[in-house]
Amino acid sequence: MGKILVTGGAGFIGSHTCVELLDAGYEVVVMDNLSNSKEAVIQRIEKIAGKPVDFFKGDICCAEDCETVFSQFAIDAVVHFAGYKAVGESVEKPLMYYNNNIGGSVTLLEAMQKHNCKRIVFSSSATVYGMNNEAPYTEDMPTSATNPYGYTKVMIEQILRDVCVSDGDFSAVALRYFNPIGAHKSGLLGEDPNGIPNNLVPYIAKVASGKLECLGVFGDDYDTPDGTGVRDYIHVTDLAKGHVCAIDYAMKNKGFEAVNLGTGNGSSVLQVVEAYEKACGKAIPKKITPRRAGDIAVSYADASKALELFGWSAKADINEMCEDSWNFTKLNPAGII
Ligand code: NAD
Ligand code: UFG
Repeated sequence: MGKILVTGGAGFIGSHTCVELLDAGYEVVVMDNLSNSKEAVIQRIEKIAGKPVDFFKGDICCAEDCETVFSQFAIDAVVHFAGYKAVGESVEKPLMYYNNNIGGSVTLLEAMQKHNCKRIVFSSSATVYGMNNEAPYTEDMPTSATNPYGYTKVMIEQILRDVCVSDGDFSAVALRYFNPIGAHKSGLLGEDPNGIPNNLVPYIAKVASGKLECLGVFGDDYDTPDGTGVRDYIHVTDLAKGHVCAIDYAMKNKGFEAVNLGTGNGSSVLQVVEAYEKACGKAIPKKITPRRAGDIAVSYADASKALELFGWSAKADINEMCEDSWNFTKLNPAGII
């Protein structure tokens, strides 16, 4: 079928995608510098898929590392996850984000160009819809950003568009993820953030397992049914399957496409807490706190383009997402070691 280079393949979404690519019959080479993941993830991917993975510990910002991978393996296409992703940290350390996310992507694309590899699927984000559009978001809406992390996604999408204009044989799909949560059904792969989580479900998981005391609900005065923020949560396995569809598409089509990966439905913070309480069988202590700067009231996808282009749609509901998150949390009290 083909050999896929997965940059950032040891990370949360990348590891789940490796499993789905292997299941679909692709061969997988992971390139990751392990700045936010563990090498043990690779063995877990192999265990689930029952197939080997080639792992190369390297940095996409390093031209020599990229050169080594592309000369060692005959890569047919790239799924590009590698990057930093914490919004708050990007405000404090913008150059680190621009260097790693944008600089790394350019270095990777240069190596691809040199080795005549012309297909890439990129991890973009719903954050590119900024503050001025109204949900449901469609891919033709204008993009913008409110922080350096968001600008890296807007800018990398633009770079991919430009590369496709310059080379009519190039194929690039930017997948705009909504809010990926959950974990692999086996309990072997999941989200394992360092320190205090920034995101809702990893935070709730730490409260449920007794590592943090109480969830702060960031505002209950939004213009939403219960006053708390509404997001389009998507099971990470559904998201991973969307990448296989995008690779299949990129194998057969040329040019640039941006495609939303979401369920098309929103859940409020309080609805997520309720679903998690049901999954773990205990109450999640919570208190209302002021709004978090930069948060919007409502974000959810118009998911119709992914269905039209790929025949893909998300399957899992919020209860299943919370059950799988809790299963991973219970089975990995010290994270992935
Ligand atoms: P993650 O941190 O778990 O995975 C990213 C991986 O990339 C890590 O394993 C890290 O070690 C690696 N990495 C970082 N910089 C690298 C570099 N220079 N060279 C090689 N490897 C490097 O994050 P994730 O949640 O799996 O996210 C994957 C991608 O999806 C990111 O680009 C992120 O911005 C994007 N995204 C994530 C979300 C989300 O909510 N998780 C939402 C939208 C978009
Ligand atoms: N929330 C809380 N308490 C918390 C954490 C979050 O109430 O401790 C609320 C937020 O206010 C928001 C919702 O839970 O209403 C979801 O917040 P997350 O931080 O989990 O997700 P965001 O939608 O804010 O952020 C996600 C990605 C970012 C991306 C952003 C915009 O994590 O990378 O979407 O698309 F930039």
